Amino acid sequence: MAKKPSLKLDALILAAGKGTRMCSDLPKVLHTLWDRPMLGHVLDTLQSLDVHNPCVVVGHGAAEVKKFLDRTPSSRDGVRTVLQKPQKGTGHAVMVAECELKNADEVLIWPGDMPLLKKETLKAFLKEHRQSGVAVSVLTCRQQNSFGYGRIIRDTRCEFVAIREEVDASESEKKITEVNTGIYLFNRKTLFEALAEVQPNNQKGEYYLTDTIEILRAKDQSVQACCLASSDEAVGVNSQRDLAAAARLLTDRIIDRHFAAGVTVISPQDTWIAPHVKIGAGTVVYPWTWIDSGVSIGKNCQIGPFAKIRGGSKIGDESIVGNFVEINRSQLGKRVYAKHLTYLGDAIVKDFSNFGAGAITANFDGKNKHTTRVGRKVLVGSNTVMVAPVNIPDHVKTGAGSVVTKKTKMRKGDVVAGVPAKVIKK
Ligand code: UD1
Ligand code: CA
Repeated sequence: MAKKPSLKLDALILAAGKGTRMCSDLPKVLHTLWDRPMLGHVLDTLQSLDVHNPCVVVGHGAAEVKKFLDRTPSSRDGVRTVLQKPQKGTGHAVMVAECELKNADEVLIWPGDMPLLKKETLKAFLKEHRQSGVAVSVLTCRQQNSFGYGRIIRDTRCEFVAIREEVDASESEKKITEVNTGIYLFNRKTLFEALAEVQPNNQKGEYYLTDTIEILRAKDQSVQACCLASSDEAVGVNSQRDLAAAARLLTDRIIDRHFAAGVTVISPQDTWIAPHVKIGAGTVVYPWTWIDSGVSIGKNCQIGPFAKIRGGSKIGDESIVGNFVEINRSQLGKRVYAKHLTYLGDAIVKDFSNFGAGAITANFDGKNKHTTRVGRKVLVGSNTVMVAPVNIPDHVKTGAGSVVTKKTKMRKGDVVAGVPAKVIKK
């Protein structure tokens, strides 16, 4: 039997809208979840499908959005853009991209303000679309609070017949909890045939992509709504409140992964852990802790409460980073203790060293950042200021309140004290 020729799938991300409800000068899709714009999250997830260079519709803040796309490594072959100006609705956004999609058999459409969809859901959606062979599949989910979403209208036989926008919905339609995620898979040819008939006769006067459902049904084309997404991965971000909710949902998902790897997080709802953080089993993270992307924490550590660990930091096994401690671009060895009120920036600390309360690195001279090196089994006294660049050899002890500078000539095991610190005991 001859092998079925494989279908060419193209992806179109809608990112031209103003995002009026964000009340912000930044284009909506560039608002970040952790350190990555929403649009970046969408592109990352899209990589799980065999789409080589997705197309992004830009418009409002196009220059800024393009600048972000130029420096994002998400797509193997780069990302194409098309300009939509003025922005006359989601249907119009797709119309302006017609030329870019001309070689595709199937088109995946994805709004750039939907950053939390999971790869597995996307794959399951594509599979279901291909198995059914319909002209369009709409990805839907149940939202207990469906306000603002397009409602999925089904007839008495439960067949999917239309999508109704919030502003155009009747009171009974507003009660429907199955909603449009804004993600669709279309047969390209039928998509553009339907779009040619979309009219802006609705409350907003826009060309709605959602109107294609009724148009296609009138043309006897098959449509389906696939209720495959969970409510929390289908959050559309329209406001600052939605953005905060999405950041929390993403963080909960990250913390779940750390739970599965044997990390104890005492109060997950009060803890913020970015993507791409490694934490070893047996480590306990106390509440009100903030850990940035790229941080690595060893096994059996204690972190927090009220700790901030910033990017580029590595913390060795069995270390303690306690309350009101900030670690920034620093490497701590095994069993390093900084239990209270410490700032370590650009520091390299060997095993078994201890920082008393209030010990800090002065790593910035107003122009440049400098490194502080702390040897093994060093005891840094309370309120010590380590003025970088400075090296503190193994086994040194610093007196409370001392200011250690590069002029403090220390050798292994010395005791230093004073302002500036001098050796008081060899
Ligand atoms: C849209 C859907 C709604 C769905 C919801 C899911 C329509 C008419 N409504 O509503 O059914 O439940 O998403 O989150 O499609 N955009 C453009 N150009 C435009 C207008 C919008 O590129 O002219 C982009 C926006 O930047 C955004 C996306 O399309 O990324 C969705 O637009 P938005 O205004 O947020 O639509 P919703 O009101 O959320
Ligand atoms: Ca939206």
